[in-house]
Amino acid sequence: MEALRLEHVGVRYGGVAALEGVSLHVDAGEILGLIGPNGAGKTTLVNATTGFVPLNSGTIVIGDARLDGKRPFEIARLGVARTYQNVRLFGALTIRENLRAGAMRRGDLDDDAMRALLGQAGLLEADLDAAASSLAYGDQRRLEIARSLAGTPQILMLDEPAAGMNPVETKALGALVRAIAAQGIGVLLIEHDVALVRAVSDRVVVLNFGMVLATGAPDAVVRDPAVIEAYLGSAV
Ligand SMILES: Nc1ncnc2c1ncn2[C@@H]1O[C@H](COP(=O)(O)OP(=O)(O)OP(=O)(O)O)[C@@H](O)[C@H]1O
Ligand SMILES: [Mg+2]
Repeated sequence: MEALRLEHVGVRYGGVAALEGVSLHVDAGEILGLIGPNGAGKTTLVNATTGFVPLNSGTIVIGDARLDGKRPFEIARLGVARTYQNVRLFGALTIRENLRAGAMRRGDLDDDAMRALLGQAGLLEADLDAAASSLAYGDQRRLEIARSLAGTPQILMLDEPAAGMNPVETKALGALVRAIAAQGIGVLLIEHDVALVRAVSDRVVVLNFGMVLATGAPDAVVRDPAVIEAYLGSAV
C-alpha cells in the first residue's frame, strides 16, 4: 500500500531550482533511502512535503489527501512526521512536554505510553521530567524520533538522523528505523552514511541538482556509474 507520493515536484528559491520534476513514492512499511550530494535538494523535499516551503509545480499526496498547499500543522495531522537536520526539540521543556507536543494528533499520552515510546527509541532510562536539553546529543536525536512517533504518523521523514552519532549509536538507530517500518509506517531516510542506507533501505532514490538521478535496490544504486560519478566517488 502506498503511503506517500510526490509527482513532478518543483521548488524554487528565487532563481535557484532546488527541486525539478521530482517523482517518488514511499509504501507503507517501506524504508526509502534518499541520498545525494550537499545541496541536492534532500531537505527541500522534506520541507516541501511538510508544508515548510511552497511548491512551484507538482503534487504531493498521502492516501487520498493532497498535501501541497496545506500548512505544516494540517499536514502533521494527516500523518506526516519529520525530524530536522539540526535537532529541533523544545529544549527548555521536559521530555514529557516534548512527547505531549508530538502527540497532538491523538490527544494526551499517559506515562505508560510515553515510556513505551522512549523505550522504542532506546531511551528507556530517561527521566520524563528532565529538560530535553539535558540529554546527550545522540539521545536528543532519539527523543526527536520518539516525539515524531507520538503523533502516530503514516510517514516519517528522517533528515540525517545519524549525524553526530558514533558507530554503536548508528547501529542502534538502524534497528530503530527498521522497527518503525515494521509497524507499517513508511520511512524516508536521508543520510550521508551510505553504509546505514544500504543496510536498512528497501529502495534508494538519488537526488542530484534537484533531480532524481537514480532509483532502485540499494546495491544496484551504489554500483550505478552515474551515482558513483555524482556522489559516491571512490568512497564505496
Ligand atoms: N531557504 C533557502 N533559501 C534559498 N536557497 C535555499 C534555501 N534552502 C536551501 N536552498 C538551496 O537549495 C538547494 C538545495 O538545498 P537543500 O538544503 O535541500 O540540500 P540538501 O540535499 O539537503 O543538502 P545537505 O546534504 O547539505 O543537507 C541548495 O542549492 C541550497 O543552497
Ligand atoms: Mg539537507
